[in-house]
Amino acid sequence: MVTVAVIGAGGWGKNHIRNFGEIQSCRLKAVCDLNEKALAAAKASYKNVETTTSAAAVFGDRQIEAVIIATDAPSHYRLACDALAAGKHVMVEKPMTLSPADAEDLVKRADAAGRILMVGHLLEYHPCVLMLKDLVDKGRLGDLRYMYCQRVNLGVVRKDENAWWSLAPHDVSIVLFVFQAEPVTVTAQGQAYLQKGVEDVVFAQLKFADGRMAHIHVSWFDPHKIRKVTLVGAERMATFDDMDASEKIRIYDKGVTAGAVVGYEQALSIRMGDILIPKTPGGEPLRLECLHFLECIEKKKTPRSDGRDGLRVVRVLDAATRSLRAGGAPVNL
Ligand SMILES: NC(=O)c1ccc[n+]([C@@H]2O[C@H](COP(=O)([O-])OP(=O)(O)OC[C@H]3O[C@@H](n4cnc5c(N)ncnc54)[C@H](O)[C@@H]3O)[C@@H](O)[C@H]2O)c1
Repeated sequence: MVTVAVIGAGGWGKNHIRNFGEIQSCRLKAVCDLNEKALAAAKASYKNVETTTSAAAVFGDRQIEAVIIATDAPSHYRLACDALAAGKHVMVEKPMTLSPADAEDLVKRADAAGRILMVGHLLEYHPCVLMLKDLVDKGRLGDLRYMYCQRVNLGVVRKDENAWWSLAPHDVSIVLFVFQAEPVTVTAQGQAYLQKGVEDVVFAQLKFADGRMAHIHVSWFDPHKIRKVTLVGAERMATFDDMDASEKIRIYDKGVTAGAVVGYEQALSIRMGDILIPKTPGGEPLRLECLHFLECIEKKKTPRSDGRDGLRVVRVLDAATRSLRAGGAPVNL
């Protein structure tokens, strides 16, 4: 039975509190937030949970073995450092940090402390993303050529971070997870319409050494609510539409095959096969993520979205930011 505390009881932290409060194999001992109202809400749901405005008090509690940091992104690095220094296992929300240097430092600290450092890359725990990855790994799509992700809707408009840092950590983590590679070049273009200097919409391209490519479109200033991933392989194609309640994954038996050389041109035959809509496994991704964190602590396993994964994602987020600032110039990683 792992004893845990959640730091940050805001919009997303509430979901961590619910999950760790409900999971039988752990004990949610404390919730910490600077906001007393957020603490009162946690206390109303979980009477036995201690509440505090002091993260230091959580770190000083020797019964607490693991902390979940669900505060705003600028506070992640400092809180995670202090938690690791106090010997806690840490699950920190995305983005792990705001700079690659801080992310590298956290990875080193976790290694030195012998503690688990996991990042809340939620989509790596989504059963449909795992199904896509399985399709790719088993070669069902043939060699992957390219993929693109869209994460757009109207709001929530944030002030302290742009749409890229708010929304794209999910998509970058999906791309790196599915491709199992880091890009060599990142380019990004975006625009701030609603608040000066805070991009509302960003289009980014990730190019990989072997020619694979990924495109990511994020926005909180868009009429549609889209959460979609499209994978194009040499033999088949697949989509994951998280807004579709019952038919989230489609596998298209479609492709283009190069045929015999005819004259100066190669004949290209287009194959329009069936569309398969497989039954997808259920399960709340956050519950699965929380259970994974606990399992990694208990069995001393490396999390799927460990600190190194967090670092890789932050490197891409940072490279895209540098490209944005340079008007879309390519940034090499
Ligand atoms: N994985 C996901 O799908 C997902 C979804 C939404 C948000 N998030 C991430 O979760 C984090 C929190 O987002 P949110 O939407 O809940 O933000 P929020 O602003 O609603 O909540 C943040 C909370 O942290 C508290 N806080 C800030 N600094 C603190 C400190 N030093 N000690 C204690 N409490 C502190 C604030 O008082 C606030 O209640 C962000 O990193 C965000 O990117 C992840």
